[in-house]
Amino acid sequence: MKKFLWGAALSANQAEGAFDVDGRGLSVIDKLPAGKERFQVMSDPKNNLSRTFAHYPSHHGVEFYEHYQSDIKLLAEMGINSLRISISWPRIFPTGTEQSPNEAGLKFYDNLIDELLHYGIEPIVTMSHFDTPFALSERVNGWTHKSCIDAFVRYAQTLLTHFNGRVRYWIPFNEINMILHLPYVGGGIVDCPAEQRAKLTYQAAHNQLVANAKVCQLAHALNPENQMGCMLAAGNYYPQTCRPEDNLLAIQKNRETYWFIDVQARGYYPSYAQPKLRELALDITEEEIELLKNTVDFISFSYYNSKVCSSEQREGAELTAGNIFQSIKNPYLESSEWGWQIDPIGLRISMNDLYDRYQKPLLIAENGLGAKDEVIDGAVEDDYRIEYLKRHLENMQAAMQDGVELLGYMPWSALDVISASTGQISKRYGFIYVDVDDDGNGTYRRIPKKSYYWYQSYLRNQ
Ligand code: BG6
Repeated sequence: MKKFLWGAALSANQAEGAFDVDGRGLSVIDKLPAGKERFQVMSDPKNNLSRTFAHYPSHHGVEFYEHYQSDIKLLAEMGINSLRISISWPRIFPTGTEQSPNEAGLKFYDNLIDELLHYGIEPIVTMSHFDTPFALSERVNGWTHKSCIDAFVRYAQTLLTHFNGRVRYWIPFNEINMILHLPYVGGGIVDCPAEQRAKLTYQAAHNQLVANAKVCQLAHALNPENQMGCMLAAGNYYPQTCRPEDNLLAIQKNRETYWFIDVQARGYYPSYAQPKLRELALDITEEEIELLKNTVDFISFSYYNSKVCSSEQREGAELTAGNIFQSIKNPYLESSEWGWQIDPIGLRISMNDLYDRYQKPLLIAENGLGAKDEVIDGAVEDDYRIEYLKRHLENMQAAMQDGVELLGYMPWSALDVISASTGQISKRYGFIYVDVDDDGNGTYRRIPKKSYYWYQSYLRNQ
């Protein structure tokens, strides 16, 4: 029997920093400041990218580039047997269009991956975690242009070949459905006028689906041991009432997410997608349709919250913030300090739903609580995070009892990292505290939190 992957997760753009070191190019995220202005740039890059800001949090991240050895040692002592990391695309191909990779970039990941293997930690590697080279945004409006397919495939092939045998679990794209909600973050799209938004984002999504399929084809041909995963920002829509209209709407809203995974897991666009594909008149070739048959081996997903929809949503209805997806507030749930609603049973629901739909093994690639932590007398007592994780783990176990095949659990995040949506470090998720504030000031010292010791003892009992 395969070992269960007990791990944690982080991403290059939120942890590494060293944004201009060893030949790295700029990533789309490197253009984002923190705070309110971050959302302005993310949602309207065309009119905001020329502005300059005092602080770009990804430039320093939490200095994982510098501290990776001691961080991995700490994580190994916590007892994980796997770690989800990502490779920064512009560290390997600084502008995305070079014909050969940046050797210094590859060297960093050689060291990082060898360090993980040294501790018996299985690397689970995302190839693009919101990390399109900025040069591709400038040159071709990101993933709207088909040249990104070849650029990404060249990058992916470099990784697959270089790390062949050392990395077995690959996830080409993080939260592929994010491209519909934040086209700049998900696909490096800068110019996205409202009247063309649907066409541009669905075309970019299609281009990513083609790239994903091509990479799966290459990976399987190169090494049958390679396990390829899709990755979605999950969390089901609940109908607000038992009105049939609300139930129908929930099905339709959930399909916005499944759209991507249906293609990646089944190898073709589902029938419900056909009217939209025709209406948008996307550029889809016969050859691409054929390529899409190269499917993934497992379904990975992030789970932070569920959502609620109503066919009669009135103006002024109370809305909640949640992983970029706004929803009607669910009165039965509590919320985090950032307004994300906490729904452990929703994890069991998502797992059952995904497994029923695809019958492929799942991987929980992210799950965790963003909260303000305080260091008191040198310690962080994050009981709220422990409680959150416990309740989600109970529901994860229940889903497995329901018959769901699960490869592993990668709570977000291994150590505190910069928040993707707000750019704050004060929205902390980690098992390990990093001493730095929202302006980038601090010692970057690491302090294992109470949740670190709790997870350590939980893992010892598995
Ligand atoms: C997921 C992303 O959307 O949610 C992560 O894959 C992100 O990169 C995580 O950090 C939590 O979101 P946030 O915005 O609170 O950092």
